[in-house]
Amino acid sequence: MLINDLKAHTAEVMQGVESALKRVLTRGWYVLGPEIERFERNFAAYLGVPACTSVANGTDALELALRATGVATGDVVATVANAGMYATTAVLAVGATPRFMDVALETAVVTLEEVGQAIESGAKAVVVTHLYGLAVPDIERIGSLCREARVVLVEDCAQAHGAMVGDKRVGSFGDIGCFSFYPTKNLGALGDGGAVVADDTSFTEKVRRLRQYGWVSKYTVSLAGAPSAGGPEYVAHLFVVRTAHRDSLRTHLGTCDIGSDVHYPVPDHRQPVFGDRFADVTLPNTERLANEVLTLPCYPEMSAEDVDRVVEAMNAWRP
Ligand SMILES: Cc1ncc(COP(=O)(O)O)c(C=O)c1O
Repeated sequence: MLINDLKAHTAEVMQGVESALKRVLTRGWYVLGPEIERFERNFAAYLGVPACTSVANGTDALELALRATGVATGDVVATVANAGMYATTAVLAVGATPRFMDVALETAVVTLEEVGQAIESGAKAVVVTHLYGLAVPDIERIGSLCREARVVLVEDCAQAHGAMVGDKRVGSFGDIGCFSFYPTKNLGALGDGGAVVADDTSFTEKVRRLRQYGWVSKYTVSLAGAPSAGGPEYVAHLFVVRTAHRDSLRTHLGTCDIGSDVHYPVPDHRQPVFGDRFADVTLPNTERLANEVLTLPCYPEMSAEDVDRVVEAMNAWRP
């Protein structure tokens, strides 16, 4: 059994996909255009935000969000180190320096306290990641804290489309929200895709220019710098368990023909690319999670028998 099955997703929606493809091919408009505009309107309405801007992928969404909110070379941006390097990559791409925050062991997401410390230490912006499908429980208070401190709050919602805290969906708490539609995401495209959502029209306008060569209108660039190349709070993007005996569990699941994966094995501050640059950074929970998390199969088309098989295999395992 795989941890996700994209062929099963497609089979469920094949008819709709075929008619949409036919519509697009008949029209012959493949980049942006009316289909995308309709999606942007619908997705913004679903999230309860005024505007959505589609971009090439979730990593571009993060980078353009940072650029649009004024993060630039030399700034410090706080982010987590247990979410696959995407936000860190975007921070480095705009010439800023990442400052890593630790996460709560129970939820694997950042806390109000960690964000508070990052702000006190001088972060110009904070990127919070709603990980594995879980909305950051403190997100409302993190939003207020960032507003009071005039620190930019970017939400990375790539793994949590639709997750809610109270009556609001992720992406609507910060200054700017970023989504990925990579095929394995809860809302996945047939290829790459991403989006940025924002309340502030000036952020939306900037992202719209940046996503297309800096144009304010066709072939006209007026930017100062050219753009460089469970409950409602959990939407089960990934089903992640923790164990101090991960290798043993993976081997056992493998013998039961059940797939598993690790999201993510190397925390950002320990990535080889950084050498000793973050040698003095210690994030005990992040480091422990990197050694203990294990992702089990989880996707909407899993049959009840598939689920039972995973549960039985888990119950039969002895470390
Ligand atoms: C938390 C998170 N942020 C950002 C991304 C980047 O998205 P993309 O692969 O569309 O660039 C991903 C997914 O791959 C992700 O899981």
